[in-house]
Amino acid sequence: MKCFLGIDIGTTGTKALLLAETGGIVAQATSTYPLLTPKANWAEQNPEDWWQAAISSVRECLTRADRSFDANIEVQAIGLTGQMHSTVFLNSDGTVLRPAILWCDQRTASQCREIIDTVGFDQLILRTSNTALPGFTAPKILWLRENEPEIYDRDASILLAKDYIRYRLSGNFATDVSDASGTLLLDVAERRWAESIIEALNIPRTWLPDCFESTDITGYVTTEAAGKLGLPEGIPVVAGGGDQAAGAVGNGVVHTGSASCVLGTSGAVFWHSDAHIHDEHGRLHAFCHAVPGKWHLMGVTLAAGGSLRWFRDTLCQPEIDEAAKQGIDPYDVIIEQAFSVPPGSEGLLFLPYLAGERTPHTDANARGAFIGLSLRHNKAHMARAVIEGITMSLKDCFELGKELSINPNQVQISGGGARSSLWRQMIADTLGVEVVHTQVDEGPAYGAAILAAVGTGRFRSVEEACREMVTISEIHQPNPLNGEIYHNIYGLYKPLYGTLKEHFARSASGND
Ligand code: XUL
Repeated sequence: MKCFLGIDIGTTGTKALLLAETGGIVAQATSTYPLLTPKANWAEQNPEDWWQAAISSVRECLTRADRSFDANIEVQAIGLTGQMHSTVFLNSDGTVLRPAILWCDQRTASQCREIIDTVGFDQLILRTSNTALPGFTAPKILWLRENEPEIYDRDASILLAKDYIRYRLSGNFATDVSDASGTLLLDVAERRWAESIIEALNIPRTWLPDCFESTDITGYVTTEAAGKLGLPEGIPVVAGGGDQAAGAVGNGVVHTGSASCVLGTSGAVFWHSDAHIHDEHGRLHAFCHAVPGKWHLMGVTLAAGGSLRWFRDTLCQPEIDEAAKQGIDPYDVIIEQAFSVPPGSEGLLFLPYLAGERTPHTDANARGAFIGLSLRHNKAHMARAVIEGITMSLKDCFELGKELSINPNQVQISGGGARSSLWRQMIADTLGVEVVHTQVDEGPAYGAAILAAVGTGRFRSVEEACREMVTISEIHQPNPLNGEIYHNIYGLYKPLYGTLKEHFARSASGND
């Protein structure tokens, strides 16, 4: 059976997914690894953990496919995707010099100010379409120069997460335009490295890999990697895309007017655009899409599913035990409890800024908070407040799009949180738009497999592939009565960040 393999280097684990040439997921498997937080505000991972997880998830996926299908699995091409911005530093023989600094790491606030001062805000927006944010790659490079000069001096190249796996698979140093957009070193309008910014920041040009469109072939699986993965050598490796862009492909968000809402570890509101557009204030990310010659805008909330995971791991051992007894996912138990409480959680609000926040506040010091706790509230109220807080932070992103006159009348929903039909309905009610769910929850690996299929000629275009490979499984219409309730909750939620901002800054300086 001819298949395309998508590999997604996520924050909690690596997923491998086999997509049949004729459509349909043949098998998938995930292998997890730890998130390292050596200091407050720091988030790191070992690239070797990603590679080992890629090997075990691909092997497991192939074993599952063999078990379920009689035919031999023939992998035609591999497409890569993964966490964006997360940066690997390598020396001249390709050895990793330190743990990768991740997208949700917040250590670079002062380097972001330095970049804006050096380049000038207007020039930065003009050249890269974005402002400097702590998660992005360029400030991480400056941080390394200032804080670990002995490592900086030995560095010879940098790679993003999925591109490190590409290097291990094929020996090539390459990236794609969607992922490169999040480095702050790409001329997003022109879809090539922004030479003037790289020079102004004094970043060695030779450190940057070649940059491709997401459907281009960047290399072929080497003999050594083939042996490790249990695949034949010489399979084409297609550029792929950052997880948000590849996820949008996996959900068919590839046309004018289409938009998506992602409930993964991070949350995102994502708008497709046929033309290059950007926010002159830099509040929304303006990146290249994984669809050749197209772009997208995006707002990111750093701890969406991440907030619910924190709640589960910190407060929900009984629910975890109960789920194990019933053989179900602990989130199913927690979400069911949450929705036993009325909308508004009887006055309890939650700010999901557990990892600082990107859109719309851009504040590394922002922190999570329950506001309005009373003797009446129990754990179910807290669970609902967490889900509502995450939803309100996505509404914050959605509202910024409206300010730029982007008003989609339908939003695709994806990510782990989108498995809950109750949460999907809450998103529809809160945003006041029709919400549609496709047959796949985790779009990035699926999208990467689609990009591999397009890159090796199975389809003429990403749009054609999505028409054949993406089907809508459920539609949620917004309920105006609930919409009114969530509108009122948003009215209470919205000013809270401004009220607490000074407090967040003071407590952060106390922690230094
Ligand atoms: C996007 C971003 C996150 C990561 C998560 O800008 O930082 O969504 O890609 O994997």
